[in-house]
Amino acid sequence: MIRHLIAAIATILALWASYYMYTLDKQVHKLDEIHRIIKASEIKVQLKKPAVVKEETQPTAEENAAAAEEALKSKTKELDKKLEALKNKAGNLSAFKVSKLYKQNCSSCHGVNGRGIIGPNLVGKSKEYILEQLKEFKSGKRRNYVMYGLLQKMDEEKLDQLATEISTFKEKWDKYNNQ
Ligand code: HEC
Repeated sequence: MIRHLIAAIATILALWASYYMYTLDKQVHKLDEIHRIIKASEIKVQLKKPAVVKEETQPTAEENAAAAEEALKSKTKELDKKLEALKNKAGNLSAFKVSKLYKQNCSSCHGVNGRGIIGPNLVGKSKEYILEQLKEFKSGKRRNYVMYGLLQKMDEEKLDQLATEISTFKEKWDKYNNQ
Protein backbone atom coordinates (compact mmCIF):
# COMPACT_ATOMS: atom_id res chain seq x y z
CA MET A 1 0.00 0.00 0.00
CA ILE A 2 2.74 2.39 0.99
CA ARG A 3 4.54 1.55 -2.20
CA HIS A 4 1.48 2.53 -4.20
CA LEU A 5 1.23 5.76 -2.26
CA ILE A 6 4.89 6.56 -2.90
CA ALA A 7 4.47 5.69 -6.55
CA ALA A 8 1.44 7.99 -6.74
CA ILE A 9 3.29 10.85 -5.02
CA ALA A 10 6.27 10.29 -7.28
CA THR A 11 4.01 10.40 -10.32
CA ILE A 12 2.35 13.60 -9.06
CA LEU A 13 5.76 15.09 -8.36
CA ALA A 14 6.97 14.09 -11.78
CA LEU A 15 3.89 15.60 -13.38
CA TRP A 16 4.25 18.75 -11.32
CA ALA A 17 7.94 18.90 -12.14
CA SER A 18 7.29 18.57 -15.83
CA TYR A 19 4.55 21.22 -15.60
CA TYR A 20 6.97 23.41 -13.72
CA MET A 21 9.57 22.77 -16.40
CA TYR A 22 6.98 23.67 -18.97
CA THR A 23 6.21 27.00 -17.27
CA LEU A 24 9.92 27.64 -16.88
CA ASP A 25 10.39 26.92 -20.53
CA LYS A 26 7.58 29.32 -21.30
CA GLN A 27 9.22 31.97 -19.19
CA VAL A 28 12.51 31.38 -20.88
CA HIS A 29 10.70 31.59 -24.16
CA LYS A 30 9.16 34.86 -22.98
CA LEU A 31 12.53 36.14 -21.99
CA ASP A 32 13.80 35.12 -25.37
CA GLU A 33 10.93 36.98 -26.91
CA ILE A 34 11.68 40.08 -24.84
CA HIS A 35 15.32 39.80 -25.79
CA ARG A 36 14.35 39.53 -29.42
CA ILE A 37 12.08 42.56 -29.12
CA ILE A 38 14.80 44.57 -27.43
CA LYS A 39 17.22 43.55 -30.13
CA ALA A 40 14.74 44.49 -32.80
CA SER A 41 14.20 47.87 -31.18
CA GLU A 42 17.96 48.29 -30.99
CA ILE A 43 18.11 47.71 -34.68
CA LYS A 44 15.43 50.34 -35.08
CA VAL A 45 17.40 52.74 -32.96
CA GLN A 46 20.47 51.93 -34.93
CA LEU A 47 18.57 52.52 -38.12
CA LYS A 48 17.41 55.84 -36.75
CA LYS A 49 20.87 56.92 -35.66
CA PRO A 50 22.34 57.32 -39.12
CA ALA A 51 19.30 59.37 -40.04
CA VAL A 52 20.00 61.66 -37.10
CA VAL A 53 23.70 61.71 -37.91
CA LYS A 54 22.84 62.62 -41.48
CA GLU A 55 20.90 65.62 -40.30
CA GLU A 56 23.86 66.64 -38.21
CA THR A 57 26.36 66.15 -41.02
CA GLN A 58 24.36 68.26 -43.45
CA PRO A 59 25.43 71.59 -41.97
CA THR A 60 28.93 70.19 -41.66
CA ALA A 61 28.87 69.38 -45.34
CA GLU A 62 27.82 72.95 -46.03
CA GLU A 63 30.56 74.13 -43.75
CA ASN A 64 32.94 71.91 -45.65
CA ALA A 65 31.80 73.42 -48.90
CA ALA A 66 32.25 76.90 -47.44
CA ALA A 67 35.68 75.98 -46.14
CA ALA A 68 36.62 74.54 -49.54
CA GLU A 69 35.42 77.75 -51.18
CA GLU A 70 37.39 79.78 -48.69
CA ALA A 71 40.48 77.66 -49.32
CA LEU A 72 40.03 78.10 -53.06
CA LYS A 73 39.72 81.85 -52.60
CA SER A 74 42.84 82.11 -50.49
CA LYS A 75 44.65 79.81 -52.94
CA THR A 76 43.60 82.09 -55.79
CA LYS A 77 44.76 85.09 -53.80
CA GLU A 78 48.02 83.34 -53.07
CA LEU A 79 48.49 82.56 -56.77
CA ASP A 80 47.63 86.15 -57.69
CA LYS A 81 50.24 87.31 -55.23
CA LYS A 82 52.79 84.90 -56.62
CA LEU A 83 52.02 86.07 -60.14
CA GLU A 84 52.36 89.67 -59.04
CA ALA A 85 55.67 88.84 -57.39
CA LEU A 86 56.83 87.10 -60.54
CA LYS A 87 55.82 90.08 -62.65
CA ASN A 88 57.68 92.38 -60.31
CA LYS A 89 60.65 90.12 -60.39
CA ALA A 90 60.61 90.00 -64.19
CA GLY A 91 60.31 93.78 -64.39
CA ASN A 92 62.96 94.34 -61.80
CA LEU A 93 65.29 91.82 -63.31
CA SER A 94 65.10 93.48 -66.69
CA ALA A 95 65.77 96.85 -65.12
CA PHE A 96 68.42 95.72 -62.70
CA LYS A 97 71.50 93.92 -63.76
CA VAL A 98 73.02 93.27 -60.38
CA SER A 99 76.32 91.55 -59.73
CA LYS A 100 76.50 87.86 -58.97
CA LEU A 101 77.95 88.79 -55.59
CA TYR A 102 74.90 90.84 -54.63
CA LYS A 103 72.40 88.50 -56.26
CA GLN A 104 73.72 85.39 -54.54
CA ASN A 105 74.31 86.86 -51.11
CA CYS A 106 71.98 89.76 -50.58
CA SER A 107 69.00 89.72 -52.96
CA SER A 108 67.08 87.05 -51.06
CA CYS A 109 66.54 89.49 -48.18
CA HIS A 110 67.06 92.93 -49.68
CA GLY A 111 65.45 92.17 -53.04
CA VAL A 112 66.90 92.01 -56.53
CA ASN A 113 66.43 95.76 -56.75
CA GLY A 114 67.53 96.56 -53.20
CA ARG A 115 64.04 97.61 -52.18
CA GLY A 116 64.00 95.21 -49.26
CA ILE A 117 62.05 92.04 -48.37
CA ILE A 118 63.11 90.70 -45.00
CA GLY A 119 66.00 93.10 -44.81
CA PRO A 120 65.47 96.85 -45.07
CA ASN A 121 65.37 98.96 -48.20
CA LEU A 122 68.90 99.83 -49.27
CA VAL A 123 68.01 102.12 -52.15
CA GLY A 124 69.03 105.74 -51.76
CA LYS A 125 71.69 105.06 -49.14
CA SER A 126 75.17 106.40 -49.75
CA LYS A 127 78.18 104.21 -50.39
CA GLU A 128 79.85 105.53 -47.23
CA TYR A 129 76.85 104.73 -45.07
CA ILE A 130 76.43 101.20 -46.50
CA LEU A 131 80.12 100.40 -46.22
CA GLU A 132 80.18 101.56 -42.63
CA GLN A 133 77.15 99.43 -41.79
CA LEU A 134 78.70 96.39 -43.45
CA LYS A 135 81.93 96.84 -41.51
CA GLU A 136 80.05 97.28 -38.29
CA PHE A 137 77.92 94.21 -38.93
CA LYS A 138 81.05 92.22 -39.71
CA SER A 139 82.88 93.33 -36.60
CA GLY A 140 79.80 92.82 -34.47
CA LYS A 141 79.65 96.47 -33.44
CA ARG A 142 76.25 96.68 -35.03
CA ARG A 143 74.59 93.56 -33.79
CA ASN A 144 72.70 91.39 -36.23
CA TYR A 145 73.32 87.67 -36.40
CA VAL A 146 72.24 87.30 -40.02
CA MET A 147 74.39 90.11 -41.36
CA TYR A 148 77.22 89.15 -39.05
CA GLY A 149 77.29 85.52 -40.19
CA LEU A 150 76.95 86.45 -43.81
CA LEU A 151 79.78 88.94 -43.90
CA GLN A 152 82.36 86.79 -42.13
CA LYS A 153 83.45 85.20 -45.41
CA MET A 154 83.77 88.53 -47.21
CA ASP A 155 86.92 90.65 -47.37
CA GLU A 156 87.06 94.46 -47.42
CA GLU A 157 87.24 94.51 -51.18
CA LYS A 158 83.97 92.67 -51.52
CA LEU A 159 82.30 94.92 -48.97
CA ASP A 160 83.52 97.91 -50.95
CA GLN A 161 82.21 96.40 -54.19
CA LEU A 162 78.82 95.77 -52.62
CA ALA A 163 78.58 99.21 -51.07
CA THR A 164 79.50 100.81 -54.40
CA GLU A 165 76.98 98.73 -56.27
CA ILE A 166 74.14 99.25 -53.83
CA SER A 167 74.70 103.01 -53.84
CA THR A 168 73.95 103.01 -57.58
CA PHE A 169 70.59 101.30 -57.13
CA LYS A 170 68.72 104.58 -56.75
CA GLU A 171 69.98 105.91 -60.04
CA LYS A 172 69.09 102.63 -61.76
CA TRP A 173 65.69 102.63 -60.15
CA ASP A 174 64.96 106.20 -61.27
CA LYS A 175 66.03 105.37 -64.79
CA TYR A 176 63.75 102.37 -64.83
CA ASN A 177 60.80 104.38 -63.62
CA ASN A 178 61.33 107.13 -66.17
CA GLN A 179 61.47 104.76 -69.12
C1 HEC B 1 68.98 86.57 -44.51
C2 HEC B 1 68.64 87.94 -44.78
C3 HEC B 1 69.67 88.91 -45.18
C4 HEC B 1 70.65 88.78 -46.13
C5 HEC B 1 70.92 87.57 -47.00
C6 HEC B 1 71.34 90.04 -46.16
N1 HEC B 1 70.80 90.91 -45.27
FE1 HEC B 1 71.40 92.81 -44.99
N2 HEC B 1 70.04 92.98 -43.51
C7 HEC B 1 69.17 92.03 -43.10
C8 HEC B 1 68.42 92.51 -41.96
C9 HEC B 1 67.35 91.74 -41.22
C10 HEC B 1 68.90 93.80 -41.70
C11 HEC B 1 68.46 94.74 -40.59
C12 HEC B 1 69.41 94.56 -39.45
C13 HEC B 1 69.21 95.56 -38.36
O1 HEC B 1 68.55 96.56 -38.55
O2 HEC B 1 69.78 95.29 -37.30
C14 HEC B 1 69.91 94.07 -42.69
C15 HEC B 1 70.60 95.25 -42.77
C16 HEC B 1 71.46 95.58 -43.77
C17 HEC B 1 72.08 96.89 -43.93
C18 HEC B 1 71.86 98.10 -43.07
C19 HEC B 1 70.74 98.92 -43.63
C20 HEC B 1 70.48 100.21 -42.87
O3 HEC B 1 69.53 100.88 -43.27
O4 HEC B 1 71.16 100.49 -41.90
C21 HEC B 1 72.88 96.81 -45.02
C22 HEC B 1 73.72 97.93 -45.61
C23 HEC B 1 72.76 95.46 -45.53
N3 HEC B 1 71.92 94.75 -44.75
C24 HEC B 1 73.43 94.99 -46.63
C25 HEC B 1 73.44 93.68 -47.02
C26 HEC B 1 74.31 93.13 -48.02
C27 HEC B 1 75.33 93.94 -48.82
C28 HEC B 1 74.03 91.81 -48.13
C29 HEC B 1 74.71 90.80 -48.99
C30 HEC B 1 76.09 90.59 -48.75
C31 HEC B 1 72.97 91.52 -47.18
N4 HEC B 1 72.67 92.67 -46.51
C32 HEC B 1 72.40 90.29 -47.02
C33 HEC B 1 68.99 90.78 -43.67
C34 HEC B 1 69.78 90.26 -44.65
